[in-house]
Amino acid sequence: MTRRVGMQWVSISLLLCCGFVQVSTDGTVFLERGHRGIVPCPLVESCQIPIGDILAMYWFYGSTSDTSLLISYFIGKVAPQNGIPQGVYDIDNEFSLVIENVTAFNEGTYYFQVKPRLKVVESGSVEVCDKVSPSRPYPTVIGCNQDHDADTCEVRVRHDSTVHNLTCVMEQVKPAVQLGWIRLFLGGQTELNASTTVGPVVLPAYTGSSLRNNTYSTSASVQVAAVDDEEVYECEAMGIAIGSSTRTRVRLTKTYPTTATYDTTATDNEMQSSNNPGTTLVLMDEVTPPAFPFTLRLALTITILVVLFIAVIFDVILRGLVLASTDGTVFLERGQRGIVSCPLVESCQILGDILATYWHYGSTSGTSLLISYFLGRVAPQNGIPEGVYDIDDEFNLIIENVINSNDGTYYFQVLVAEFLLN
Ligand SMILES: *[C@@H]1O[C@H](CO)[C@@H](O)[C@H](O)[C@H]1NC(C)=O
Ligand SMILES: *[C@@H]1O[C@H](CO)[C@@H](O)[C@H](O)[C@H]1NC(C)=O
Ligand SMILES: *[C@@H]1O[C@H](CO)[C@@H](O)[C@H](O)[C@H]1NC(C)=O
Ligand SMILES: *[C@@H]1O[C@H](CO)[C@@H](O)[C@H](O)[C@H]1NC(C)=O
Repeated sequence: MTRRVGMQWVSISLLLCCGFVQVSTDGTVFLERGHRGIVPCPLVESCQIPIGDILAMYWFYGSTSDTSLLISYFIGKVAPQNGIPQGVYDIDNEFSLVIENVTAFNEGTYYFQVKPRLKVVESGSVEVCDKVSPSRPYPTVIGCNQDHDADTCEVRVRHDSTVHNLTCVMEQVKPAVQLGWIRLFLGGQTELNASTTVGPVVLPAYTGSSLRNNTYSTSASVQVAAVDDEEVYECEAMGIAIGSSTRTRVRLTKTYPTTATYDTTATDNEMQSSNNPGTTLVLMDEVTPPAFPFTLRLALTITILVVLFIAVIFDVILRGLVLASTDGTVFLERGQRGIVSCPLVESCQILGDILATYWHYGSTSGTSLLISYFLGRVAPQNGIPEGVYDIDDEFNLIIENVINSNDGTYYFQVLVAEFLLN
């Protein structure tokens, strides 16, 4: 890390000499606290004085009086001055001042005097600030669970809550970062009116952490209205402490707690579903196939053939539809992953290809559909976020984290091809 800071400055100064970058800083140099810091001489950096011409270089702190001289270079020899021990400062090959371990006390104005061959002594100064980078480069959103990516997280809000407070922070950095909230929508973004606070951090001596002492913590809060679709917000941090800017993306997902509580007076104390696959099966053999436009006699022959083909397939699928309710109470451990098995599959009443499975809660209405499996794809329904329910390889309903409101009756519908139903 130490080396990287040094390398960074070297490369910047090389680039400046070669004219590839135009740096519009006010000349202030920020050095990372606790690391090796390099204070370049602007006259050397800008190639006004060729390195090979330099006979002597003097670096001072605070003023150019003799007592503020830190270190000198004179005809090949670098020497600390004023009783400063070796290893605190150095002068490198580009005549920059090296601060071996930057602390908060290194902030201030550094003066240099440089004597090129056959020329008069030139002098100047450099402003130095210490910098404390955050331990995590991204702003932290309070109450947000980090995803796989370090810069995204998820906040779960109840589906019926109307406003939600989003707060992001970046703590103990220097200089303070600016934080803001942005709402993303298809093809655009809007900056939100966040309320921000910046506060100084002074750590008590006993903490011993001078590395994060006298820094700043920033926070930004917005109230967001929960709307229908999944919302995406970003907290953006800007400032020298993090380079330029970083963002943390927040997914606001709604949770749909099942509020219906069913009496779970279990008449059977054991899991019976495997032994007793149920008496309430209703085989929907009577489903009438949808009317297909067989009467389109004037249509092209090829169209009729295609329609006929589709009609045949639909017939097969619909005749295989089976509707049943779970029979036999299943007991699931609260706080654990729970499996509600489909008795028909479990008892091998359905063999072969299942084309679709639908799991409902409380009733079989469209709005009570929790999750579906259809032709290889499992999809949560009715706005339920991913990760609440799942359907496993045996077409069982998985409740990823059983809570007390999961009590109740679950209904399933299974779609099989007719010729596979026994
Ligand atoms: C730099 O100084 C700090 C505070 O005095 C100290 O904790 C740290 O170990 C030093 N780092 C190095 C690389 O010497
Ligand atoms: C939002 O939450 C933050 C942190 O919990 C709190 O400081 C702030 O006052 C809250 N804002 C509102 C309007 O509730
Ligand atoms: C932003 O919020 C502040 C206080 O919450 C309010 O005074 C100001 O008018 C708001 N600005 C906009 C553009 O909404
Ligand atoms: C932090 O700085 C304050 C003064 O700014 C000082 O009193 C305190 O002892 C320092 N704490 C640490 C841990 O260095």
